Amino acid sequence: MKVKLLELSDFRNYQNLQIDFAEDANLLFGDNAQGKTNILEAIYLCGTTKSHRGSKDKDMIRFDGEEAHIRMFIERDDISHKIDMHLKQNKAKGIAIDGIPIKKSSELFSLINIVSFSPEDLSIVKNGPGERRRFMDMELCQLDKIYLFHLTNYNKAINQRNALLKQLQYSKGLEDTLTVWNEQLLSSGTKLIESRNEFIREISKIAGKIHEKLSDGREVLKLIYEPNIEVNDYKKAMKESIQKDIATKMTNVGPHRDDICFQICKTDEKMKTEKEAYEDVRRFGSQGQQRTAALSLKLAEIELVKERIKDTPIILLDDVLSELDRNRQEQLLSCIQGMQTIITCTGLEEFVNNRLKHNRVYHVSNGEVIQLKEDMNL
Ligand SMILES: Nc1ncnc2c1ncn2[C@@H]1O[C@H](COP(=O)(O)OP(=O)(O)O)[C@@H](O)[C@H]1O
Ligand SMILES: [Mg+2]
Repeated sequence: MKVKLLELSDFRNYQNLQIDFAEDANLLFGDNAQGKTNILEAIYLCGTTKSHRGSKDKDMIRFDGEEAHIRMFIERDDISHKIDMHLKQNKAKGIAIDGIPIKKSSELFSLINIVSFSPEDLSIVKNGPGERRRFMDMELCQLDKIYLFHLTNYNKAINQRNALLKQLQYSKGLEDTLTVWNEQLLSSGTKLIESRNEFIREISKIAGKIHEKLSDGREVLKLIYEPNIEVNDYKKAMKESIQKDIATKMTNVGPHRDDICFQICKTDEKMKTEKEAYEDVRRFGSQGQQRTAALSLKLAEIELVKERIKDTPIILLDDVLSELDRNRQEQLLSCIQGMQTIITCTGLEEFVNNRLKHNRVYHVSNGEVIQLKEDMNL
């Protein structure tokens, strides 16, 4: 699938912008704070309903603007589609595909798949579990329509249950209502645990192979899903946690507390028992190991999406190449060969040096985007 054309009005620092993209590599370059990431954000938002940097809708509306519009023309299986998105100050966003308003964001996920990669993604191993859960959720929502449905139900139920737990200190009589929420959580939570379990098992296999290459065969990487509670124990644990939940005024058991463990074993230590050889990279890995593991995960994500959708996703690389050494840059670039890629960077030099083939180059300066000559010999 490809993005053909993007039109923005009153989005971030763009009053009006129209930009068309080439089928393979597109480069947006310019100084800091000029609006490069804003363009990637608009594309990601249009394909996933969420900002890749976690911004709120109203923060993406141009200062002083009332509403923002994004229109994106894409091509999938040789058919063109138009996505319209309309961000409002204090209301939910409106989305239409080919002129027909959609009610569920899952309709968008079956039309378009985007993988975004920015320097923050390289910290996923080092950072807290919340980001690792966000990664699982974003991926699973894009790959599995039903997951989004269960996740939405689960989050709603958690919020309601936590609100109820806060109320309980004033009205003890409400305690029985907790069981209603327990059941809701149990039914959607179980689905989340099962899907995450399968997803991590699958992505671990791919990431393992990539990591071996990235580390020149010196390390083996495994990802292990760490559910806060196993499916079989979930019901009982939730029941047993009720008094604690009331005392702490929050829900203590469930997949909203899950994590992913990254384990690395040096190949020359494989002789040791499995338990001795593998280390938890989150806690004991060097920064380099943590970043390599994160890169392996990201490249595995691209592979997995490609496999599942039987098409190439659109790749957004936000200032990420300059964060990687030469060898890793090349691994990344070879992984995304043949896919449409939109890359931001501050200077052109680094790319010339790295012999990146790009066939469309834009200069971004203070919300103005100017295309350099096509197929320029840099
Ligand atoms: N809602 C908004 N309205 C107008 N300008 C905005 C808005 N949000 C961010 N900006 C501007 O966008 C610029 C940052 O854009 P960004 O795409 O992140 O830069 P970069 O080129 O470094 O990637 C800043 O100058 C900021 O003031
Ligand atoms: Mg940026």
